[in-house]
Order: sequence, then structure tokens, then C-alpha cells
Amino acid sequence: MKLDDEVCLCFHVSLRKLINFVRVEKPRRASQLSQCFGAGTGCGWCRPFLKKVFQQADQHPEELLSATPDDYASGRAAYIRAGKGVPPPGDPLRPDARNYRQAAKQAKPEGGLD
Ligand code: FES
Repeated sequence: MKLDDEVCLCFHVSLRKLINFVRVEKPRRASQLSQCFGAGTGCGWCRPFLKKVFQQADQHPEELLSATPDDYASGRAAYIRAGKGVPPPGDPLRPDARNYRQAAKQAKPEGGLD
């Protein structure tokens, strides 16, 4: 994953934003990354990855997440489709969204990342 790829797809928070937040704000807990544009406060898919960013932001940041952006997004879609989280209003993966069926079809059956 590259620095400008989004880690929190619900709120479009990039890896770069998160790393800079950790470096500048020096949060004491991973949950405080939610103060970075609401990261992690939607469906919940990105929370394990936010913990990685929190724990390892000062190391090779682009190596924090090994998945490609497409695989990462597909994993999130499968996670949501399995009923494990609900994305925020306006997200095409919300069950009440107009194009939900199309977005859900693009999800892989398994969301097994990292
Ligand atoms: S992807 Fe971050 S809360 Fe949904």
C-alpha cells in the first residue's frame, strides 16, 4: 500500500494522513486515530490496520499494509456483506444505497487480509 492509498475507506483517510497524525499529535492509544478525520468510526474494517499504523508509524510505513488497494477494498466489501459492520451514510456498500448490489458483487467471498 502506498502513502496516498486510503486506509479508512469510510472516511477516505490515507496512510499518509494517519502517519502524519501519529507523528505530530503523538496519540497515546490507537483509538485516538479516530480524531484523524474520523478514521475507524464507520464500518470498523480498518481498525486492525489503524492499530498497525499506531504501533509502527515510525518504521517503513508503506510496508504496514501488504494488500493492494483493490484487495483491501474487496476485503472491506466482504466484511460489510458478512454483516460485520455498517458503513456511513452515502457509502455505496450500505444496504440502503442505490448501487449496493453492484458494489457487493465486486467483493471477494473471503476478506482474508494480513
Ligand atoms: S474503512 Fe474505516 S471505518 Fe470503515
